[in-house]
Amino acid sequence: MKPVLVVYATRQGHTRTIAEHVAATLRARGDEVDVIDAAEPPAGFYASRYQGAVLAASLHRGHYEHEMLEFVRTHREALERIPTAFLSVSLTEAGVENRTAPFDRRAQAAMDVKRTVDAFCAACDFHPSRVWPVAGALLYTQYGVLSRLVLRFIAGRAGGDTDTSHDHDYTDWKALDRFVASMAREIETGP
Ligand SMILES: Cc1cc2nc3c(=O)[nH]c(=O)nc-3n(C[C@H](O)[C@H](O)[C@H](O)COP(=O)(O)O)c2cc1C
Repeated sequence: MKPVLVVYATRQGHTRTIAEHVAATLRARGDEVDVIDAAEPPAGFYASRYQGAVLAASLHRGHYEHEMLEFVRTHREALERIPTAFLSVSLTEAGVENRTAPFDRRAQAAMDVKRTVDAFCAACDFHPSRVWPVAGALLYTQYGVLSRLVLRFIAGRAGGDTDTSHDHDYTDWKALDRFVASMAREIETGP
């Protein structure tokens, strides 16, 4: 089997952690995996050497990283020929998965996530085989003063964590592992 590509775009680093976790899960299954940063694809990179791909990007101010958009646009043809998964990392998804939040708020958050994924896919004419929303993290200890204040305000309004003395990781790692296992089977057998 050809290797599997894991490509990520990140601002604060959480999506890189997710990409490395996905890669470790695939390697534990015996797959050969290349992990690359969408901002810095290695020289001579070509996507057609891969059996399948997992792409992970995070949301900031309503948009995924522009480098992921450019990566997909550049390699779209090769990506469209293999099984692909798009992991959308956001705090909006943390709202979807927050079991203590009211139903309508969670449903609205789910629609917001879908809308941003659809807008991204339309912008680069990309049709991933699967989309998997992932709850991101509030990395208060890494933010500058302004971002910390803004994120604390947004989190507070959404009923999220406002204690800025430490970080809050909302990623459901077990659910992610189950998704990766199922995606790995699709990559092995074809769509
Ligand atoms: C300045 C800033 C803006 C953000 N904007 C959004 C947003 O518009 N929607 C959202 O769901 N999450 C938003 N987030 C949350 C990030 O998507 C979340 O923290 C994610 O885990 C970041 O991933 P990264 O560490 O890989 O960059 C924002 C975070 C920051 C710091």
